[in-house]
Amino acid sequence: MSPLIIALDFAQPESALALTKQLGSKRCRVKVGKELFTRGGPALVEELIKQGFEVFLDLKYHDIPNTVARACLAAADLGVWMVNVHALGGRSMLMAAREALEKRSQRPLLIAVTILTSFERLDLYSIGLHGLLEDNVLRLARLSYSCGLDGVVCSPHEVDPIRKTVSKDFKLITPGIRPTNSSQDDQKRVMTAVEALKLGTNYLVIGRPIIAAPDPLQALLEIETSIEVKVKSEK
Ligand code: C5P
Repeated sequence: MSPLIIALDFAQPESALALTKQLGSKRCRVKVGKELFTRGGPALVEELIKQGFEVFLDLKYHDIPNTVARACLAAADLGVWMVNVHALGGRSMLMAAREALEKRSQRPLLIAVTILTSFERLDLYSIGLHGLLEDNVLRLARLSYSCGLDGVVCSPHEVDPIRKTVSKDFKLITPGIRPTNSSQDDQKRVMTAVEALKLGTNYLVIGRPIIAAPDPLQALLEIETSIEVKVKSEK
């Protein structure tokens, strides 16, 4: 299966489903975030799973341990492939989420968001976090690793330092992927799919370069070609 996860950043479930029909579930996984989930709800996630997609439910849970653990179980009941929490929720919250999911025979991968890629150093100071952004990401990645999570979301620029401190099976998921010569949009630190994979990322989250392309399937095919992914035929 391809390392590509397409961010379904649509306001309307119908638009998301029109795109997934065009792309097909053999080519990629999909990510459902806060806007689309708030509009489409569990029914949309169930529909995507029915279409054969592995779904990353990107709701970034951050709450008291019991609440987050129960939310993760609800995500597991939906049958999603991956779910995420905020590492800033702390050790007890991360452990509670992992322990809750461990009881399931079939469970989603549990991933932590370290520092949002929209953050700059001043944003860190304003919430009382000092030091370099990269050091904060690294500290939270190590915390997530030590709590037994399956991986973290990070910027492609943080893949190399994190890779050096965690085991090979710890998954790194990176947004901020842009083909050469394409618009950066609001992403601050971007990289091509090929560069990010070379550094050791496992999954690439790609939104606008595909979903806002005049021909999304063609845009996906071009990225696949660049990373030489062999995708089974839909037939
Ligand atoms: O359109 P683009 O490729 O920039 O989309 C990236 C996706 O990854 C969006 O859905 C965004 O919410 C998500 N994301 C991110 N940075 C993070 C975590 C998630 O860009 N730290």
